Amino acid sequence: MQTPWIAPSILSADFSRLGAEVDAVLAAGADLIHFDVMDNHYVPNLTVGPLVCAALHKHAPQALIDVHLMVSPVDRIVPDFAAAGATYISFHPEATEHIDRTIRLIREQGCRPGLVFNPATPLDFLDFTLEELDMVLIMSVNPGFGGQAFIPAALGKLAQVRKRIDALGKPIRLEIDGGVKADNVGQIARAGADTFVAGSAIFGSASYADTIRQLRRGIGQ
Ligand code: DX5
Ligand code: ZN
Repeated sequence: MQTPWIAPSILSADFSRLGAEVDAVLAAGADLIHFDVMDNHYVPNLTVGPLVCAALHKHAPQALIDVHLMVSPVDRIVPDFAAAGATYISFHPEATEHIDRTIRLIREQGCRPGLVFNPATPLDFLDFTLEELDMVLIMSVNPGFGGQAFIPAALGKLAQVRKRIDALGKPIRLEIDGGVKADNVGQIARAGADTFVAGSAIFGSASYADTIRQLRRGIGQ
């Protein structure tokens, strides 16, 4: 199990002052900046692309950027995010034609590859990929929007992936994304997650530092 990481999702930040919002969550103790990329095609919403990622990377070069691609096709945009300073690049297996090729492309571009599982996506996609990955991301909402309710079936799924990662013995992060709050983060951690995306819980709160502290307390950190 890796050291627990808190990853605020900028989807719920004030986009008119994004640099300041990223500074604020970093100062509040964020470990990773979760960067949601939506294309109004793979998911029914449209957000930000490599230009904004590059601007944030320039603004806060010390920040690790966790790019969550909700786009199709995937491969065309991967080099752009690598050049824009992404640390992790995760994608949905349904959104690409050749999953292994996309994983290799992310690695060749100098980034850490992650595979994302929607609530109804089976874990079979891990069969021939897990050892090539640096992250597995379990969605606990359907992708596209912040502020949705946590889908409890994600807990069982986390436990299954935790077993597979532990059996393999590689330092692969297990991330959860969607509806994570201080009052459910404990059971999410017990199910095996070590990387916790929180959008509305953090950016919707009065004190980012207090909320991140509460999340860490919930995890038992
Ligand atoms: C949803 C995004 C999430 C979203 C989570 O498609 O992938 O990262 O920002 O938001 P909350 O934490 O509000 O559920
Ligand atoms: Zn996300």
